[in-house]
Amino acid sequence: MTIRSVADMAIEGKRVFLRVDLNVPLTSDTAQRGVADDARIRAALPTIQHCVERGARLIVGSHLGRPKGTVKSELSLDPVGRYLAEKLDREVLLTDEPVGDGARKVVGDLREGQIALLENLRFHPGEEKNDENFARMLASYADVYINDAFGTAHRAHASTAGMVPMVAERGAGFVMAREIEFLSRLLGEVERPYTAVLGGAKVTDKIEVLESLLGRVNSILIGGAMANTFLAAQGQTMGKSKVEHEKLAMARNFLRKASDRRVAVRLPSDVVVAREFTADSGNVVPVDAVSEHDMALDIGPDTASAYGEMIAEARTLFWNGPMGMFEREPFAAGTLAVARAFAENRRALTVVGGGDSAAAAAQMGVAEKMSHVSTGGGASLEFIQGRTLPGIAALQAE
Ligand code: 3PG
Repeated sequence: MTIRSVADMAIEGKRVFLRVDLNVPLTSDTAQRGVADDARIRAALPTIQHCVERGARLIVGSHLGRPKGTVKSELSLDPVGRYLAEKLDREVLLTDEPVGDGARKVVGDLREGQIALLENLRFHPGEEKNDENFARMLASYADVYINDAFGTAHRAHASTAGMVPMVAERGAGFVMAREIEFLSRLLGEVERPYTAVLGGAKVTDKIEVLESLLGRVNSILIGGAMANTFLAAQGQTMGKSKVEHEKLAMARNFLRKASDRRVAVRLPSDVVVAREFTADSGNVVPVDAVSEHDMALDIGPDTASAYGEMIAEARTLFWNGPMGMFEREPFAAGTLAVARAFAENRRALTVVGGGDSAAAAAQMGVAEKMSHVSTGGGASLEFIQGRTLPGIAALQAE
């Protein structure tokens, strides 16, 4: 079953519920919180603009953070709503709660082309529980349901799954359609070599995707703190580096499986070490020379250049997770080198999973040079494993 696109739906004058992922980092200034990274908001604009230009009465829903079913003022969508209004140059009416008399009134009074933004859906416990009553209340607002929240498509929540069959018509927004188009390419016949670059803090978070990639890729390049666990599993002493000691057997097992399946798994040969996370600079050492006082906080230059060569040779590339503590300048070089190598490979399909890797590509000013930068972190990882995402499945159901 194919998914309808919002572009092909008659939405003029209709009440359209648009689920977007406006879960964006906010600035730490508590007096007046602002948007710290607007990538997801910018991504959502075309579908919002399309709906208002077609004269829909638009009800926008999103979560922000993890308030766990309680109202947390610091997770109000207010700064996001203000930012959205500025970008659209239109009024965005924020409701006082996701559902309730106030929200019903705002939604009921909407005129064609007007936008209501429901307050953080996760302020209500029914959202994450996929509660039927809560889903029904949301569904009662709308004639048409559009999901453009790819970043949340791996969650079976009321606004992504439960409410969908309760609305007469359903379809995908432009973000969702593009994500499905590009990420699906990684599941079919790809040009080879196919190389995946995986980083981040924990093996635990990535083991499922790593295992699944063994059946698809030719090589996997590993960085970030999770590389420490693999190096420790191979017998390296990693000093004070972050290592998941209870996962060494899992890491060893993975390396064995990879070798059986002839997938080349590369680990760092050198690392940038420091004694403190707050250090102003680091030292480059080979992985067999990490002292007992040191922490590995980035891949070293030899590793970055070896990874760069493999990235240059690849014809299909996927990247998720930083190579080090890239938010601190002395430990950012490895992550930025991967971003640059992706951008320089103009012959490959280059797909960047969301989160920190997307932020690194943006920081390098090379995001536009990628074939696709996903707006979803967890969602893109689940998608490229070939898993069914509830938010996408719900759009397909008849
Ligand atoms: C994300 O940022 O990955 C999505 O918005 C989903 O958020 P969650 O992990 O809190 O469900």
